[in-house]
Amino acid sequence: MAKKNALYCQSGGVTAVINATACGVIETARKHGDQIGTVYGGKFGIIGVLREELIETDNLSDATVRALKHTPGGAFGSCRYKLKDLEAQKREYDRLIEVFAAHNIGYFFYNGGGDSSDTAFKVSQLAQEKGLDVTCIGVPKTIDNDLPVTDTCPGFGTTAKYIAVSMMEASLDVESMSESSTKVFIMEVMGRHAGWIAAAGGLAGDNPDQPPQIILFPEIEFDEEAFLKRVKWAVENHGFCSIVVSEGVRDKAGKFLADAGTRDAFGHAQLGGVAPVIAQLVKQNLGYKYHWAVSDYLQRSARHIASKTDLEQAYAVGQKAVEMAINGQNSLMPVIKRLSEDPYRWEIATAELKDVANVEKMVPRDYITEDGFGITEKCRRYLQPLISGEAYPPYKDNGLPDYVRIPHQLVTKKLPDFDI
Ligand code: F6P
Repeated sequence: MAKKNALYCQSGGVTAVINATACGVIETARKHGDQIGTVYGGKFGIIGVLREELIETDNLSDATVRALKHTPGGAFGSCRYKLKDLEAQKREYDRLIEVFAAHNIGYFFYNGGGDSSDTAFKVSQLAQEKGLDVTCIGVPKTIDNDLPVTDTCPGFGTTAKYIAVSMMEASLDVESMSESSTKVFIMEVMGRHAGWIAAAGGLAGDNPDQPPQIILFPEIEFDEEAFLKRVKWAVENHGFCSIVVSEGVRDKAGKFLADAGTRDAFGHAQLGGVAPVIAQLVKQNLGYKYHWAVSDYLQRSARHIASKTDLEQAYAVGQKAVEMAINGQNSLMPVIKRLSEDPYRWEIATAELKDVANVEKMVPRDYITEDGFGITEKCRRYLQPLISGEAYPPYKDNGLPDYVRIPHQLVTKKLPDFDI
């Protein structure tokens, strides 16, 4: 009987280190070449699997695979494609199983967040039901850091570091200008309903007297009056005010301050654009000159300032996923377990996919100061190690990072076309 092949898919919003996970998967599978055949990558994730567009990785040199470790973006392409209900989407699930059978797939690695864990879980259920020998492993990633069970999510540490560094640098800038020009700087960050990335902005200062003087969390209902009072206080006492605002901040009625009005395949509101809303509030009520920035995809792709801890964890979950699969462990996810805080020590543990699926982990109330505008020492102790260490990419003579692009060479199709 031929060795079973592996299929690796990237799913949802990518991160600066998701390719390090891909590298961990491919390198480890190559080490266990006696048990695993070829590793295929789904072109644009699960969409590529449904279309039977599977990317070859056997043709990639060891050096190219290694270079994935320092390259941001999703090398195989990712997607937001809803695959949740086993009954309603039977056609799609059946097609996946058909593609697995056609290409002798025995190992399925799904690298994503909460929604993707749900899909991976359903695929594993279905494979079992159909008596198909496919081991499904979810591999965690998300800059939002909102997966339960795991101490942190690969991708978050690097985004957190980028946001903390950017906040520190921009605050030095606004402070310099504050006597005669700009008094308020606002930076918008991602994170959807969870304020982990916003909290990371708080690492820019060592104590409450240092910027950012205000963090606006999605976990805390936006109180306009208290906010304006705090801005005024910061400008009068420090000369300037630095603000981190999460895209997921809501008003008293529970409405997002910035809902772009569009929805993704999972029904999530597309967020973004809250920084200018906050800036206008400041201008209209207090008259201060401001600047604002939306860190957007920059925070998701900032591989040049990666956290070494994050990079190591991203690689480790990929490596462990393969080891788990060849040990016959099914329907699981490798997760990060904190063993000690100072010094920070961690190991990879395992979680059931069904426990990870569809649960969002919010910032606990005791990680946020009583006034709702800052992070507590407890939060700082949690976050600090996650941004620790630097892992710069190699640079070329032209001054730019030496990132890699892999060829999307597809495997010959064996099945009829499939409309999605
Ligand atoms: O993956 C999570 C995330 O980065 C959220 O923080 C953000 O709201 C969303 O993705 C943006 O997704 P997209 O790139 O699909 O617009």
